[in-house]
Amino acid sequence: MELFGEATVADPYAVFGELRERDPVHWSDEVDAWVLTRFADVRAVLHDQRFSSRVLDGSPSAPATSPPGPAADTRTSRVLAGAYTFVNNSLVFSDPPQHTRLRRLVGQAFLPSAVEALAPVVEHHTRRLLDAAGTRFDVVTDLAEPLPIAVLGELLGVPLLDGDARRLKTACDDFLLPWGRDVSSLSDDENRRAVAASSALGAFVDTVLTQRGNAAPDDVVGRLLAGEADERLTHEELFATIVLLLIAGHENLTSLLGNGVLWLLDLPELRALLGEQPDQWPAVIDELLRLITPNQFIRRVAREDVRLGGRTIRAGDATVLVLAAANRDPQHFPDPDRLVLDRTERRDVALGQGPHYCLGAPLARLEARIALRELLERHPALEPAGTPRYAPNLNLRMLTALPVSSSPDRTTPSHENRAAFPSDSPGRG
Ligand code: HEM
Repeated sequence: MELFGEATVADPYAVFGELRERDPVHWSDEVDAWVLTRFADVRAVLHDQRFSSRVLDGSPSAPATSPPGPAADTRTSRVLAGAYTFVNNSLVFSDPPQHTRLRRLVGQAFLPSAVEALAPVVEHHTRRLLDAAGTRFDVVTDLAEPLPIAVLGELLGVPLLDGDARRLKTACDDFLLPWGRDVSSLSDDENRRAVAASSALGAFVDTVLTQRGNAAPDDVVGRLLAGEADERLTHEELFATIVLLLIAGHENLTSLLGNGVLWLLDLPELRALLGEQPDQWPAVIDELLRLITPNQFIRRVAREDVRLGGRTIRAGDATVLVLAAANRDPQHFPDPDRLVLDRTERRDVALGQGPHYCLGAPLARLEARIALRELLERHPALEPAGTPRYAPNLNLRMLTALPVSSSPDRTTPSHENRAAFPSDSPGRG
């Protein structure tokens, strides 16, 4: 059974759900890794220090982490240089003691007060984008893509005009081109784009660090720059942290916003309830995170032999933790495919758990709550106006198009729209 192919892009919850029933701790030759799909196993690994977050050389899911050797041609060296600095200095790919130090330094920058201060900024950009969108628009291209990158620009103290935001987004996408691939398989065009992306991100980081202007010394970047000697981020760590914030902080949110609207479009009773009881928004965002799980799987490597679910995961074996399957495990979440507001168990794994728990979680929740609420308050009669389209991306459950209309005289019959909904939407029955 192919686990990481087209059928999974079409309906990952069905494919991984079946695997969870049949073989929850599954060895896959396809990805040369154990694939874990049960909530209890995924949660256990996330909290288990015997599993490493480091990316190993030659792994299928990341670029090499050693600098290219003398035999590597210049082209390969240039493509890998930025990726190498990023992977080796990012907190998400590090273990203690490196992770403990980076997490403490970067965590000091992400204080709740810094995130709360962004609420008016998120509101401003949401309203600006909705003003420009009119009454017939695409949720993905007009809101879900540009909003997170605009907010990140503000967070980093470099307000981005729409053109800059688009260029930065392209640089993030192109920077990830060598990810999971043999670098020599990149076409000339991909190679050129990956190298250009590394330079563009390097230039952006320099701008963030130098053009501080009137920025408050205790804003996020001010805090990242603070500290002395060992208690200070190196230039490589600052580069890796800012690039990580850009990458981790935008596509996941694009996924949550786009898919979140798709769910809400199909739940008119819930939309009516939210109009009367806006205090239900936090519970709705939690459920949307669980049901969508934008980052569908993450990776760990066993440092020693570990027994799990009757199997032995050997030291050095890779594991793929399918967060999306864990979050719909009926053993843990009764009626897992439905959006249920009053669940007794709410701790899912959409934002991870344990030492690497998402540092941007408060920002992700704030941004989703404000953007979705503003959208529905402005367009209470929002409805689909075409076929939603998904990116052929297995790791991120991402829409690339979601046409909608708030006009009462819609031109597309609703039964056509309903048929276009993916099988994981609540419209399945
Ligand atoms: C819906 C939005 C988001 C989702 C679904 C998401 C998901 C995740 C997940 C699953 C992890 C854990 C990775 C692991 O254990 O290997 C993580 C870590 C992280 N996230 Fe998020 N994230 C989101 C938004 C954000 C935002 C807005 C930011 C910052 C601007 C951010 C920054 C980070 C960072 C820095 C880490 C690494 C933490 C560490 O390794 O200690 N994320 N995220």
